[in-house]
Amino acid sequence: MSQITAHFDREAADYPTDIGTDYIQARKWALIDAHAPVTGRVADIGAANGRHTLAIAERPLDIVAIDPSQQMLARLTRLADARNQVGTILPCAAALPTLPMTGATFDLIYCFSTLLLLSPKDQEAALAEMAGLLRPGGSVIVDIAGSRSLAIRYWRRHYRRRDLGGVFGHSAPRTRGMLEQNGLEIISMEAHGVLSQFLLAPGLQRFPGLIRRVRGSETKPGWDATISRRLPALAERWYIVARRPDGTA
Ligand SMILES: C[S@@+](CC[C@H](N)C(=O)[O-])C[C@H]1O[C@@H](n2cnc3c(N)ncnc32)[C@H](O)[C@@H]1O
Repeated sequence: MSQITAHFDREAADYPTDIGTDYIQARKWALIDAHAPVTGRVADIGAANGRHTLAIAERPLDIVAIDPSQQMLARLTRLADARNQVGTILPCAAALPTLPMTGATFDLIYCFSTLLLLSPKDQEAALAEMAGLLRPGGSVIVDIAGSRSLAIRYWRRHYRRRDLGGVFGHSAPRTRGMLEQNGLEIISMEAHGVLSQFLLAPGLQRFPGLIRRVRGSETKPGWDATISRRLPALAERWYIVARRPDGTA
């Protein structure tokens, strides 16, 4: 078992399952919600214990929840069993960049807060893997860490202190290139975290009012959204929606 999988196995009991109460977290779900098909096949990669899987399973979809952590998947399954959902969830223990499935059959693939744990080369291979699993007209939603952000240094140190590999980002042009080289068309690319990364400074967590103003609420953008829109090259994270052209245009 890899160090990273062992780490997330240990986190499984306490990992949050709510979609998030600030704007930056809530945008992940808003994008999934906006691009989810009415019926069809969806993959949640880095699904953890079901934060987004459980929400999307409220729809009549076939969802493959992929994660290398057996503990995360076990908790996801327990939580799903306790609900009466119309969607079908298939848990799958696997890790990017190589997944145990073939064929371009997914209508939507999303992968949040996971790619940054892979080396830059593996992130590139992972995007190619995801692109290859999308049916024509299907969409992929990912977040990519910005290599020029301050937060990436903080998180790299955080993970390395725990004997994990660290976190890895890319520049905005490289991010676009990695998607386009797989034949994907970028639909949107939104920047987050230019301001909110400063909340990592010691002591600032003691000011909940400030955190709320910077990160915003579920429905209302905070100061971070305004600053990140103006300085996208310095984003901590880009949320990107890309589509495999269906060839009928
Ligand atoms: C930080 S959590 C993100 C969970 C969720 N997607 C979210 O946005 O809150 C990262 C998850 O990715 C999983 N993971 C780690 N390496 C992975 C890999 N190579 N492929 C797929 N998932 C991975 C971890 O086990 C963990 O559950």
